[in-house]
Amino acid sequence: MPSRKILVTSALPYANGPIHIGHLVEYIQADIWARFQKMRGHECYYVCADDAHGTPIMLRAQQDGISPEELIERVGRDHRADFAEFAIQFDNYSTTRSPENRELANTIYTRLRDAGHITRRTIRQAYDPVKKMFLPDRFIRGECPRCGAADQYGDSCEVCGATYSPVDLKNPVSAISGAIPVENESEHYFFKLDSFEPMLRDWTHAGHLQPEVVNKLTEWFKAGLKEWDISRDEPYFGFEIPDAPGKYFYVWLDAPIGYLASFKQLCDRVGLSFDAFIGPGSKNEMVHFIGKDIIYFHALFWPAMLEGAGLRKPTAIFVHGFLTVNGQKMSKSRGTFVTARTYLEHLDPEYLRYYFASKLGSGIDDIDLNLEDFVHRVNADMVGKVVNIASRCAGFISKRFDGRLSDALAVPQLFESFVAAAEPIASAYESRDYNRATREVMTLADKANQYIDEQKPWALAKEKGKEDELQAICSMGLNLFRVLMGYLAPVLPVMAAEVEKFLNIERSTWGNIATPLTHHTIGKFEPLMTRVDASQVTAMIEASKSDLGNPKGGSSNDNSIPDVVRR
Ligand code: MSP
Ligand code: ZN
Repeated sequence: MPSRKILVTSALPYANGPIHIGHLVEYIQADIWARFQKMRGHECYYVCADDAHGTPIMLRAQQDGISPEELIERVGRDHRADFAEFAIQFDNYSTTRSPENRELANTIYTRLRDAGHITRRTIRQAYDPVKKMFLPDRFIRGECPRCGAADQYGDSCEVCGATYSPVDLKNPVSAISGAIPVENESEHYFFKLDSFEPMLRDWTHAGHLQPEVVNKLTEWFKAGLKEWDISRDEPYFGFEIPDAPGKYFYVWLDAPIGYLASFKQLCDRVGLSFDAFIGPGSKNEMVHFIGKDIIYFHALFWPAMLEGAGLRKPTAIFVHGFLTVNGQKMSKSRGTFVTARTYLEHLDPEYLRYYFASKLGSGIDDIDLNLEDFVHRVNADMVGKVVNIASRCAGFISKRFDGRLSDALAVPQLFESFVAAAEPIASAYESRDYNRATREVMTLADKANQYIDEQKPWALAKEKGKEDELQAICSMGLNLFRVLMGYLAPVLPVMAAEVEKFLNIERSTWGNIATPLTHHTIGKFEPLMTRVDASQVTAMIEASKSDLGNPKGGSSNDNSIPDVVRR
């Protein structure tokens, strides 16, 4: 199989709040995929960055009495630490506030402008006369024009679900200063998305998207594509538009460009050709993992921007659903808005990696973290099935045989049947059907345990003259275990590495799994994953109730507003 060259990205988390378990669905999903591709021998790069620009970040920094640069530096450090502990292995992690991103954003904008894809016109917008700034819709609060509910956002009502324009809101106030907004005029820059409609209609139907996503887009095409406002007035934390002093790129203009900028850093660092990946007609793959709330930006704006700037378009956009906890939206008051940090203080990150993997399919349905099921699944599958194989066999091998495995497999057909699962499991990973991949592995784990049950090594160990048999059975068990851990390595990289150390073998790849371990001496067995106790989960939920943080557990992407500015 020829080696593929693949650039993988996941959406850039906002730099004004902590990583939470909802985010982790995505970073774990993409990390598993990237690790899997690497294990297949492909050239795969997984990059990401913090999304550092925008009004909420600017305001948040003001509230904290620090500069935005300082805020994004701090938050960036926390994000990186969280990702590292969850074994999310980025080949590069940057920020959209990088020189590379500024340059690329300028280049792409300039190319779009020179090709006639940018237009300017004056618009009227809500303005905070006290704070002296234009107000994004979400920073205006007032009474819903339809149902009269108090304290609703400028664009939609959380009570009756109405969507409207902020000018229709009754008794509006600025969520920042409390002042009554006035209307002011200003010139804005627009990207002419509508001129890309024919290209986008083709592209969205050319196999780059999941069927559910194509359906969603059909609605948007029906509603008509509109010009996209890509500029914001001072004060704004972003990149100044090169030919427009006092005007800044809207955060969503330079955010996806941040994928490329982060990759550019990697290319410069390790000597890869950026242009070979990103240039028009590139044969390499570029795939973006995103949540379902940001499809519009990725499946419409982004390919249009790339096309307009003469760059390659994505190979695929992989959309996932939202995380719910016990069937409901994550909630601070219920303690289900769990940050990555709080989770890490109570539980092993690989429990969550495994649990999410066991729930993830290739579609965009929401996925539920049921806390009871979480405890059960981890204990039943990971500890009860997989680790159990090793713990039942390793002791005898070290104590009785000095770590030496037998020189031939006891039941070669059984081993072969495990090896034969490599391709079906690979195809499940490839299509992000991790649920299927983990189920296949658990079925095999059942078979391995059944083999051990039937052979009863613990009974043989008590009999005289059964040494060879005992060694052969335990060696067989460990060989099966080794294959299974290889299959699970994309999901459980930390445990896989411990297993490789204990088995005294090289890093597993999809290729070397098929070679049995014979004429081989293993190392010392250390207890691998331990059982999770429901009380640890309860403690985590309790701790989350008292956590401060910045909620973004909802289903709409609002470039989240710090709690403090909500009135
Ligand atoms: N900054 C933008 C993305 C820019 S990409 C060029 C953003 N950031 S975010 O922090 O709000 O979300 C980052 C990713 O996490 C998004 O793909 C989003 O869909 C995902 N999730 C955020 N909350 C989530 C859940 N509760 N469940 C699953 N995914 C979630 O959007
Ligand atoms: Zn309403």
